[in-house]
Amino acid sequence: MKIGVLTGGGGCPGLNAVIRAIIRKATITYKYEVLGIMRGWRGLIDGEVKPLDINSAYGILHQGGTILRTSRTNPYKNPEDAKKVLENIKKYGIDALVAIGGDDTLGVAYKLSKEGVKVVGIPKTIDNDLSGTEVTFGFDTAISIAAEAVDRATTTAESHDRVIIVEVMGRHAGWIALYAGIAGGAEMILIPERPVKLDEVCNLVKARHARGRDYSIIVVAEGAQLGEGEMITSTEEKDAFGHVRLGGIGKFLEKEIEKRTGLETRSMVLGHLQRGGNPTAFDRVLGTRLGVAAVELIAKGEFGNMVALQYNKIVPVALGEAIEQKLVTDEWYEMAQVLF
Ligand code: F6P
Repeated sequence: MKIGVLTGGGGCPGLNAVIRAIIRKATITYKYEVLGIMRGWRGLIDGEVKPLDINSAYGILHQGGTILRTSRTNPYKNPEDAKKVLENIKKYGIDALVAIGGDDTLGVAYKLSKEGVKVVGIPKTIDNDLSGTEVTFGFDTAISIAAEAVDRATTTAESHDRVIIVEVMGRHAGWIALYAGIAGGAEMILIPERPVKLDEVCNLVKARHARGRDYSIIVVAEGAQLGEGEMITSTEEKDAFGHVRLGGIGKFLEKEIEKRTGLETRSMVLGHLQRGGNPTAFDRVLGTRLGVAAVELIAKGEFGNMVALQYNKIVPVALGEAIEQKLVTDEWYEMAQVLF
């Protein structure tokens, strides 16, 4: 048995922990061969692959990034590319494929599984927006970084009597903002799932300052919307999966809040800091469990599934179900509103 492994989509802390677990479980327990596919789906279009053995797994557990590199390549954008993927799977003798990615990468895996390719998915994204799993690996690291940033913003906001806005990632889901905001004790959390009017934001800030508080911290998700307004994008460009590049809402809020409240306001964008660097212990352990479980699914022949965390057990979930977007629920948001 030869297993092909690839990492696709945005970088994510814990990818190397997953790759290491796959290599170890596959080679030690089952004596399978492992083939690394470089740069996500692009590696299967271009035929950029490399054998992975136990030595490839040494010393990578704690490292950020991915030894297989990644890209946002969508082979279904061009029928020729999709054909090459199928040809190369055959050419390199790949019996089963492990796709480590978010909704885009696993969406491709799902399509391939419908074409008869034996695929298992592993949920990777700092955004935590995949269904069927309580959490994706990478999320814990991202929220730890974001919560620390909120803590640090708070002390300087307090020293200067300022409003500070912390813009975080998450695309169309508000999970990073929600967790970082709760953990950091932010005064307000703005998420895509709950559009609010700019006036409401300003009134809340003014009311807080009228109560004698001299500073405020607002955590805003990059995809948050104000009223009926559009999401703010940093460019018009779209990636291969049709996603716009979000970003800029923090700066917009900075100007508007200062103008409307008269309070000195600053904003900061955490950006790719949330995705870089070493994974937390939680993400290393979760990544390891998911990697081991993916190889076990292959051994059992349970293809077309993603390995998922449910009630602290790793279970299979159908890929078609897993790629549904998981958004912040009303229950979560209402619980967080106690902070506002
Ligand atoms: O999907 C993870 C993510 O980090 C999103 O939160 C963010 O919108 C996007 O990737 C940024 O991607 P890129 O680095 O390709 O601009």
